[in-house]
Amino acid sequence: MTLNDIIKPVKDDLKEFSDYFKSTLNTKVPLLNLIIKYVAQRKGKQLRPVLVFLSAKICGEVNQRSYVGASLVELLHTATLIHDDVVDEASERRGLASINAKWNNKIAVLIGDFLLSKGLLAAIDNNEFDFLHAVSVAVKRMSEGELLSIDKSRGTSIDEETYFRIIRDKTASLLSSCCKIGALSATDNPAHHEALSEYGENIGIAFQIKDDMLDYTSRSVLIGKPVGNDIKEKKITLPLLYALSKLDEKDADKIKNRILKGKMTKGEIVELIEQVVQIGGIDYAEKIAKEYVDKAKSYLEIFPESPAKISLLQFADFVILRTN
Ligand code: IPE
Ligand code: IPE
Ligand code: MG
Ligand code: MG
Repeated sequence: MTLNDIIKPVKDDLKEFSDYFKSTLNTKVPLLNLIIKYVAQRKGKQLRPVLVFLSAKICGEVNQRSYVGASLVELLHTATLIHDDVVDEASERRGLASINAKWNNKIAVLIGDFLLSKGLLAAIDNNEFDFLHAVSVAVKRMSEGELLSIDKSRGTSIDEETYFRIIRDKTASLLSSCCKIGALSATDNPAHHEALSEYGENIGIAFQIKDDMLDYTSRSVLIGKPVGNDIKEKKITLPLLYALSKLDEKDADKIKNRILKGKMTKGEIVELIEQVVQIGGIDYAEKIAKEYVDKAKSYLEIFPESPAKISLLQFADFVILRTN
């Protein structure tokens, strides 16, 4: 099963969406235009628009409102990635130099703000106040999640409960809004809005667990961003949390302190990654992610069988099978 199979029920919508999305980005400021062109040349997996369209389709039909919703969430997602790379001091994104690396942090912050406001305006210009509410909740939660994550990287100890709070807020919140917005665009049935919102939240959690696993197991050429960056950025994610819990306390504290001091060399990071894999941190994370995938699927039970439903069920599996 590939992403291409999953998107089949909404393939034409996605194609049309790509042009529509590009046209929303026009601006008259030359530097802005240059950077926006740079951003637009790599479009990413477009998972969030896919979720909007499939969620609309499982409730009814994809329509003009779904398009507004899809561009709104993709604008917001792009903005948060640009800001996230500033926060994480990441040098690459989607296989290209990040905006902060190619230009600088100031420019990246402003470009992110520009895209964010474009997204919010897309909702307002189309009188989509329910969409606006859904994404504003997501933006608020994403900021909270990113800040909690920064706070934890500054030395206070992190536990699994905090880890889950961070990933729910920084990642699951937006995927949940995508599904809710898709549903809102196609039906007035609140039970359907709620079910899709929960589906999105749970695949979002699994999606971020997988993202954190890929930071250990993948290679930069595959994911288009640096590998091992989490440890470098003092981020202790689920595979490492598990591995630490299996070591005796003294050894675990020693490793934690070294990470939080930010003094790990490249070689030491590679060594730690190997240790985490060997202790079973990746297997454990995979098991937990799978539980969230199953939970997500259970929220689709209220919908009758349809191609869109099949795709959403497959999408749930895809978030942890994906390799980039
Ligand atoms: C990356 O999301 C950010 C996370 C929430 C982990 P994606 O992996 O969907 O990014 P693109 O849009 O495909 O680049
Ligand atoms: C997720 O954070 C991205 C956002 C919430 C914007 P990460 O820092 O874990 O994601 P990547 O690995 O940079 O894509
Ligand atoms: Mg990052
Ligand atoms: Mg981050």
